[in-house]
Amino acid sequence: MSHLSNVWFKVTDLEVVSGQGCRVTTADGGEYLDFAAGIAVNSTGHSHPHVVDAIARQAGRFIHAQVNVFTHDLLEPLAAQLAELAPGAIDTFFFANSGAEITEAAVKLAKQVTGRPNVIVFDGSFHGRTHLAMAMTTSKTVYRSGHAPLPSGVFVAPFPDPLAADESSEVDRALAGVDRVLATMTAPGETAAMILEPVLGEGGYAPAPKAFVEGLLERCRRHGILFVADEVQSGFGRTGRMFAVDHLGVEPDVICMAKGIASGFPFAALGTRRELDDRWPRGSHGGTYGGNPIGCAAALATIEVMTEPGFLDNVVARGRQLTDGLAELQRADPGFRQVRGIGLMVATVFDDPARVAALMQHCLHEGHLILMSAGTDGTVLRWMPPLVVTAAEIEEALQAFAGAVKATA
Ligand SMILES: Cc1ncc(COP(=O)(O)O)c(C=O)c1O
Repeated sequence: MSHLSNVWFKVTDLEVVSGQGCRVTTADGGEYLDFAAGIAVNSTGHSHPHVVDAIARQAGRFIHAQVNVFTHDLLEPLAAQLAELAPGAIDTFFFANSGAEITEAAVKLAKQVTGRPNVIVFDGSFHGRTHLAMAMTTSKTVYRSGHAPLPSGVFVAPFPDPLAADESSEVDRALAGVDRVLATMTAPGETAAMILEPVLGEGGYAPAPKAFVEGLLERCRRHGILFVADEVQSGFGRTGRMFAVDHLGVEPDVICMAKGIASGFPFAALGTRRELDDRWPRGSHGGTYGGNPIGCAAALATIEVMTEPGFLDNVVARGRQLTDGLAELQRADPGFRQVRGIGLMVATVFDDPARVAALMQHCLHEGHLILMSAGTDGTVLRWMPPLVVTAAEIEEALQAFAGAVKATA
C-alpha cells in the first residue's frame, strides 16, 4: 500500500535511480533519453558536475540563512549576475522557490506599485497552481475545477491562435480582444498588469507573435499598466537566447524566472527596475526559504555553465536540427499538423489527442524516449530536452519518434 498522495498525475511509472546529462537510469536497469527534463527544468542536464559541486560545497558551509534574519554572500552576486542577463533596465531581484510563488509575487508587486486591483492574463496561460496563480491559469479546467471560489480581479484576453491561417489578422483579432477587456471588464485605471508568457508553455508551446507583444506593450505604456513576462518556462536559455523576450526586442517591466534557473534545485526570481521595487513596501512580501543559499549556489553555477562560449549556440543548433527533422516527418503525415517553437521549446501538433497519447507510449516503451504533451485539448507533444543535448541524442530521439509516427499513422 502506498502512503503517497493520489493527486499527482503520472506521465510514466519509471523509478529513477540516477541521471546524467540527458539520460536517466531506472531501478530495473533501463536507460531513457529524458526529453521532459523535469518539465523544462534540468537545463544543464541531470547532475551537471559543476552544479553538483557548487551545491555540495554550499551545503558544507550553511544550508539555510533566512533572508529576514541574515544576509549571505551569494545573494548580491546572484542578483548582479541576473541584472547582467535580464532584459533592458531590470536590475533588482526578489527570490522565492517556485514558479507559482514568483508569478504571485509579480502580481503583488504590480498591485502595490500601481495601487490598482486587477490583472489581465491570456487564453491558454499557465502561471501555477496556488490560488491566485490558478485564477491566472486558463490552459485546462482540471487545474481550476473543484477549487472555486478563485481570487477575483483576473481577466482573460485572447492569445493569437498559432494554427490561424493568417498571423497578421489573428494578431489584430487578439489585440481587439484585449481592447475589449479594457473597455468592458477592467478599466485601464484599475488594471495593474498584463502577464504574458512570451512562449505559451503548458498551453501548447506557442510563441507570441512579435506584433502581438508590441501591441500589448504599447497599451501598457499608454495606460500605465505594468508588462510582466512570465519566463518561468521560456527563460534561462530554453529558446536559444537567455530569455524569450530577447527575440522580440521588448523590455518587460517585470520578469518571472524559475525552472531552469538552478538546474533542478527549487529556486525562482522576480526581476524589476529599482524604481519600481523601491515602491514595494518593505515587509509586504517575503517567505521563509527565498534566497536559500544552496539555491543561490545552484543558480550561480547554472549561470556559469550557460554563459560558457557556445552553450546557447548549441541550443540554437540542436533546436534547428530537431525542428528540421520533425518538419520532414510532418510533411509526410496528414494527421501531423504543425511543428512550431523556438530553440529547444518545440511543439509537434496532431489532429487527434488519442494519437498523441499513443505516440508518447510508443516513444517511451519502444524508443526509451520520454516526452510530454501540452495544450488545452492534448493535441500537442512538446520537446524540451536538457539544453546540453547533443546532435547524436537529437538524432536518436528523431529515430524513435519516426518509428512512433509510422506505427500510429
Ligand atoms: C510559465 C509558467 N509559469 C509558472 C509556472 C508554475 O511553476 P511551478 O510549477 O514551479 O509553481 C509554470 C509551470 O509549469 C510555467 O510554465
